[in-house]
Amino acid sequence: MEPKWWHGKVAYQIYPKSFCDSNGDGIGDLKGIISKLDYLQALGIDILWLSPIYPSPFVDQGYDIADYENIEPLFGNLDDFDHLVAAAKERNIDVIMDLVANHCSDQHPWFKKACADLNSEEAGYFYFVKGKNGKVPNNLRSYFGGSVWDHIPGHEDEDIFYSHYFAKGQPDLNWYNPKLREQVYKFTNFWLQRGVKGFRVDAILSIVKDLSFPDLPPDDTDGMCHAANMNARNLHQIGPFLNELKAKTFTPADSFTVGEVLTVTPESVKDFAGANGYFSTLFDLSAREKVESFPHYRMFPNLLPDDFAQCVFDTQDLNQKVDAFVAPIIENHDEPRGLSYYMPDYLQNAVGAKTIATFLMGLRGIPFIYQGQEIGMTNTAFQSIDEFDDLYAKNEYRDMLEHGYTPEQAVASCARHGRDNARTPMLWDDSANAGFTTGKPWMRVHQDYKTLNVKNQFGVLGSTFSYYQDLIKLRKAPEYAHVFTYGSFERVMIDQGLIAYLRTDKETEQQLLVIINTRKDSCTYDLSALGDKRVCKHQPQVLISANEATLSVKADGVDGIINLGCGGAMIVAL
Ligand code: GLC
Ligand code: CA
Repeated sequence: MEPKWWHGKVAYQIYPKSFCDSNGDGIGDLKGIISKLDYLQALGIDILWLSPIYPSPFVDQGYDIADYENIEPLFGNLDDFDHLVAAAKERNIDVIMDLVANHCSDQHPWFKKACADLNSEEAGYFYFVKGKNGKVPNNLRSYFGGSVWDHIPGHEDEDIFYSHYFAKGQPDLNWYNPKLREQVYKFTNFWLQRGVKGFRVDAILSIVKDLSFPDLPPDDTDGMCHAANMNARNLHQIGPFLNELKAKTFTPADSFTVGEVLTVTPESVKDFAGANGYFSTLFDLSAREKVESFPHYRMFPNLLPDDFAQCVFDTQDLNQKVDAFVAPIIENHDEPRGLSYYMPDYLQNAVGAKTIATFLMGLRGIPFIYQGQEIGMTNTAFQSIDEFDDLYAKNEYRDMLEHGYTPEQAVASCARHGRDNARTPMLWDDSANAGFTTGKPWMRVHQDYKTLNVKNQFGVLGSTFSYYQDLIKLRKAPEYAHVFTYGSFERVMIDQGLIAYLRTDKETEQQLLVIINTRKDSCTYDLSALGDKRVCKHQPQVLISANEATLSVKADGVDGIINLGCGGAMIVAL
C-alpha cells in the first residue's frame, strides 16, 4: 500500500453545538472548541472533524446549509475559524469540515430564487418535477419519514414538486446540472484555501437519481419505499460525479476525505476507498446499516457484541481485499452511544468502555472517536418526547403512537435508538450543566454528569480517558505503528461474547492479538488455539490490558494462557 500522510492517524469528531459553550448562550461554539484544543492534544488525536458550522436554520442541526462560505453566527465567525485552524495546527491537529452537498437549506438563496422563478438558473440546481396521475412523482420515503416530495413553496396549487431525501427543509441539489457541480467545487475549494485539510462527505450516495423517478416496491404498509433503496439501484452512476469532484478539489489539495457511504458492496468499496478511490476512506457504518435496514425504530433489532463484531470483521475483510483503508467507529452524531448499543447491559459502564475501546483501537484503518466516547459516555435517560430535538426521533415517536404503542413505549424506543443520545452536551465536570455552559444548555444534560466527566478522569490512572490515551500512544508508538497501520487483519473468533482478531505485519515480522471478553463470566484463551494463524513465535508480551486480564507464559516461553474477567481486554504482541 502506498503510504499517505493520513495513514497512522487517529481522528476525533466534534458536534459543535454540544461540545463547549464559551459565551453562556447554551450553544457550543468555535471559541469553546479552541479552549479545549489542549485537551484534544493530550488525548493524542491528529485529525479533527467538525460537524457542520455553516449558517443554518438548524432544521436538521446544521446539515441544512443556508450559506456554504460562512460560519453560523451562533458558532462564531470566519476569524474564529481561522484562529481555530491555526491553533489546531500548532498542536499538530488538522481540521476537516463536513461537506454537505446532496442538499442545501430551503433558506439558501439558491432555493429562494428557484422558487420565486421556476425558469431561473437556480431552479436548475434542484429537482422540480411534475406529479404523476395527480400524485407526487414516486413513492419514495425520506430518511426521516414521509414522502421525499413536497410542493414547491409558493406553488402549492400546482402539479409540481421538489425532491428532498431528508427533511422538508433540505431540498436535494441536482448534480446532473454542471453549473451546480461548479458551485460545489467552488465552496469546497473555499475551505481548502482556508487551511482545511479535508472533508467528511455527507450522504453522498443520494446525489444519484433515476431521472424517470419510478416507484419502488413498498417496504411497509404505507405503500412507500425507503429512499436508500433507490441509492443502491443507482450506485453505478456515481463514478463520474465523484471523480470530477476529487479532481477539482481533493486531489490538488492532497486532502484527506472520509465518505458517509452506506450500502457498500464488494465491487464498489474499491471504487470508493481503494488506492484510486473517490475518497481516502469510508466509515464502517455496517452495524448501523444492519439496524437501519428496517424502516422504523419499532422494528429495529437489538445487536449483541457478537453481531457488532461480525459486522466489523466483514468490513475489515472487505476493505483489506481491495487494499482500501476503512474508518472504524463505534458511534457518531447519528447513532446512539456505542457503549449502550453494542455492549450487554452489565458492560454499559466504565468497564465496558475499555472493552469496546480495545476492540476498536486495534483495528486496521483510521479510527474515529466521537466526543465523549473517550470518557465512556452512555445513552441519556430521556424521560419524555419533549426532551428530544431530533426530527427523526419525533417522526418515529409519532409513527409508534399511530401503531398503537403507548407514549412510554415510544419514548423508550426513541431513547434507545435516537440520535439525540450523541447530541447531549459534552461532560466536562461536575458543576451545573457539566461545565458545558454557564447558561441553559440547548439540550438536556446526561444523568450521570456528577461522576461521569472529564475532570474525574483527566490525568487519573485507570480512567477510561487515560486508557484511550494509552491506546492511542500504543497505536502510534514507533515500534508498533507499522503493524497497527498496515498489518493485515484476520478474524480469530466470535464465540458468545469472546471476540478476537489478529494483526500481522510481514514486513516488520510482528503479530498482535486483540482479544476481549464480553461474557458475564471470566474465561481463558490458550494461545496454542491460534494454530497456524500464529506466525510470530516470540515470547508473548502484553502491550495493554484492562479489566482483570492477565497472561501467563508457559515454560517454553512461546505459548501462554490469557485469563479475562468480565469485560477483560488485551492486546498481546506474539
Ligand atoms: C447525514 C448526517 C445526518 C444528516 C443527514 C442529512 O446522514 O450525518 O446527521 O441528518 O446526512 O444531511
Ligand atoms: Ca455559545
